[in-house]
Amino acid sequence: MTFKPRRNQYASTPTYVEIETTIMCNATCWFCPQKNTLRTPKYMEDWVWKKIIDDTRGIDAVYRPFLLNEPFADKRMPAIVEYIKQDSTAKVEFNTNASMLTPKVTDKLIRTGVDVMRFSIDGFYRSTFDESRGISYDKVYEHVQYFLQQAKQADYPIQTEVRMIKLPGTDAEQKEFEAYWQEFEPDNIIFTDLYSYPWEGQTGPTNVPCLKIEKELFFYVDGTATLCCWDSTGRQLIGDVKTENALDIWNGQEMSRCRSLLDAGERDKLELCSRCDAYDQVDFSEWQGFDYAAYKKQHGGKSKRVIPIEPKAYEIS
Ligand SMILES: C[S@@+](CC[C@H](N)C(=O)[O-])C[C@H]1O[C@@H](n2cnc3c(N)ncnc32)[C@H](O)[C@@H]1O
Ligand code: SF4
Repeated sequence: MTFKPRRNQYASTPTYVEIETTIMCNATCWFCPQKNTLRTPKYMEDWVWKKIIDDTRGIDAVYRPFLLNEPFADKRMPAIVEYIKQDSTAKVEFNTNASMLTPKVTDKLIRTGVDVMRFSIDGFYRSTFDESRGISYDKVYEHVQYFLQQAKQADYPIQTEVRMIKLPGTDAEQKEFEAYWQEFEPDNIIFTDLYSYPWEGQTGPTNVPCLKIEKELFFYVDGTATLCCWDSTGRQLIGDVKTENALDIWNGQEMSRCRSLLDAGERDKLELCSRCDAYDQVDFSEWQGFDYAAYKKQHGGKSKRVIPIEPKAYEIS
C-alpha cells in the first residue's frame, strides 16, 4: 500500500531530543558532512546539556545524545546517559561507528541503561569499510560483537541494530554482511539508502511538505537549536537553550513559522530547505493544505532522484 501522509501532528513536546554534546568524530566518511562542521566549542558545556535534559524531564522523550558527531568521542557519555536516566520516562538511543565503544565503555553503558544501539558499520569488505570510514575495521567488528554479547545478558531489553548504507556497487557485499551478522543475533540488520544532505548537489527547491520536523528537536554543541539534523552548518536556527527553555523553543515563533511554510510545501522560503529534496517521492495527494496535483503538473511527476518513501528511512537514525 502506498504511503500517503495527511498532515504533521505537532505535539506540545518533542518525541526525540537530540544533543550534540561534542562536535568531534574520529571517522572521515566520504558521504557524511560532519567534517565540514566548524562549530565551537569542541564539547558542550556541562550546564548546557544538563539544562536541555532538565528542561525536558518527564515528557517520555527519547534522547539521542549525538547529531552528526560520534557520541563516544565524548568521554562524558556514560555520565550523560546516567543523568538522562534519572528520569524514569526517558529512553536513550545511539548511532555509533563503534570504534571508541571499548568493552569498558560498553560495560558502563549497559550498567547505566541504554535502550537502542545502532551500529553504523557501512562495509563488510575491508576496502569498502576503510574507504568510507577511515577507522579500524577490526576494532569496530570486535566492539560490536562484544556489545551484542553483553546486551543479550543484560537484565533489561536493549534493542540492537547493525546497519550498512547501500553504497554503490555493494549488492553482493550486503548479502555477505547480512549472513555474517546474523550469527551474532542483533535484533535488526538493515541496509539504508545513501542520501544527499541539503545544499549538497541540489540545485533548486523541491516544494513539497516535510515530514522530518514533526517530532524531533535538535541542539548544536553551542546550545543553539536547529530545525533539522541535516542542517550541517546552521542555516535554520530556531532558538538557543542557553537563554530559552527547550520546550519554549519547540513551541516558539520561529518553529511555528517553519512549520507553516513546510506544511504548505514552501521550502523555497527557508534557506536551508530550499536545497533539500527529502520526501520528493512521497505521495502527498492526501496532504491537507498542499496542492499536490499542481506540484505534479509543474514537475511532470518526475523527481530528481530516487529516494525511499518511508519517513523512517530518513531518521538520523
Ligand atoms: C551522521 S552519523 C552520526 C552518528 C555516528 N557517528 C555514526 O556513525 O553512527 C548518523 C548516521 O547517519 C548515517 N549517514 C551519514 N551520512 C549519510 C548519507 N549521506 N547517507 C545515508 N546515511 C548517512 C551514518 O551511517 C550513521 O548511521
Ligand atoms: S525540508 Fe529538508 S532540510 Fe528542511 S527540515 Fe525538511 S528534511 Fe530538513
